[in-house]
Amino acid sequence: MKYERFPRRIVTGNAFCNRDKERAMLAKLLRQGSHVWLQAHRRHGKTSLLLQTVEDMKSNNEDIVVERCHLLFTSGMESIIKQILQSVSKLTAAIIEFEHCRGEQGKSQAFLDKVMESFSRLNPTVSMDKGKLSLSFETHNDVDALRKGLEKMDELATQYDIRAVLIIDEFQELGKSADGLLLESAIRDRLELAKSLTFVFCGSERALMSQTMSDTKRPLYNHTHQVELNRISADSYQKHLNQMAILEWNSELPDDVFNTIIELTERHPYYLNAVCSELWLNSEIPNNDDVYEVWDKTVGIVAHEEQRLFLSLTSNEKKTLVAIAKGFRTNMNSAKVTTAIALGASTVSKTLKQLQNKDVVGRDNKGFYVVNPCIKAIAIQYS
Ligand SMILES: Nc1ncnc2c1ncn2[C@@H]1O[C@H](COP(=O)(O)OP(=O)(O)OP(=O)(O)O)[C@@H](O)[C@H]1O
Ligand SMILES: [Mg+2]
Repeated sequence: MKYERFPRRIVTGNAFCNRDKERAMLAKLLRQGSHVWLQAHRRHGKTSLLLQTVEDMKSNNEDIVVERCHLLFTSGMESIIKQILQSVSKLTAAIIEFEHCRGEQGKSQAFLDKVMESFSRLNPTVSMDKGKLSLSFETHNDVDALRKGLEKMDELATQYDIRAVLIIDEFQELGKSADGLLLESAIRDRLELAKSLTFVFCGSERALMSQTMSDTKRPLYNHTHQVELNRISADSYQKHLNQMAILEWNSELPDDVFNTIIELTERHPYYLNAVCSELWLNSEIPNNDDVYEVWDKTVGIVAHEEQRLFLSLTSNEKKTLVAIAKGFRTNMNSAKVTTAIALGASTVSKTLKQLQNKDVVGRDNKGFYVVNPCIKAIAIQYS
């Protein structure tokens, strides 16, 4: 069956490009119970990588159950706990199903009664939904229930020798809630005691995630293995794009076309997919002009989408952003740079911090300031 070659949503399977090393490392960490903080800039492939790694492990027949809990639309402590407990109940149901498939013991009523008994504090109810076991907790969504749910699920996974992985995505939302520290402490306690449960934390607001995980005063400080996700290499993209070109046009992509795609998108995974998904609609293999045309269209769409962000920037932030876009990416306090921006050195430092907190500007592994390629194109266009 034909599949979408360059999805602009979470990617797994044939459309997933490489990341072999990261997948192998992440699988190892999950397997051995090391709690992970997956850190990357917005739309760099955190969720896709996690889900692809889980698929790898499942196709390897590993005894693993995984749930992704997404906190983006939560509002306050109760709703965060509700979301996490929903994932705990799904993980518990998955463990029960796993044991059920393994053999006779897991098929007996006594087994199910025993599991229900261990979760009695959370008033569990079991039902069958389209032939699949479904479990829910009728409980107050308080911190105590959260602790108990995580503890009991970990015990169950340990008893049946199953690795349970709980991915908490958009984890920075915890810190935004009034009782954030209380929740982070409860999670830390479980994380310290966990035997078969591995926690994975990630979030799209990089600066807030950094505060949560690396501020010495926060409960989760020093409690996770940090995995920093960089961009996919040009070599891996060349292989991937050539495979996709052969499937579409029976021919590899000309080198100059590939180089232009890489140069314009700077290997930003989301924008590269956005550009290629348009190019791959061509009936014939695209040329360089096609790439430029699609790129301009993509930048136009992003300018519209990010209008609010641009309007929210102060004039100093705009000046500094334009300077970075034009290539001033290091030694930002030097006379050369401050003269070009027309701001004093201390104002530049302060403004850079603000831009980083707003996730508009980041730093690469050499410490150079970076902005995403579309924002860069827009900043230059309108400066
Ligand atoms: N390995 C990959 N192969 C192909 N495309 C990818 C890959 N990783 C990411 N992408 C592209 O990047 C986009 C963003 O990926 P994803 O949603 O996984 O990132 P994220 O870091 O979780 O984003 P957010 O910061 O919004 O949570 C995907 O929609 C896809 O277009
Ligand atoms: Mg994500």
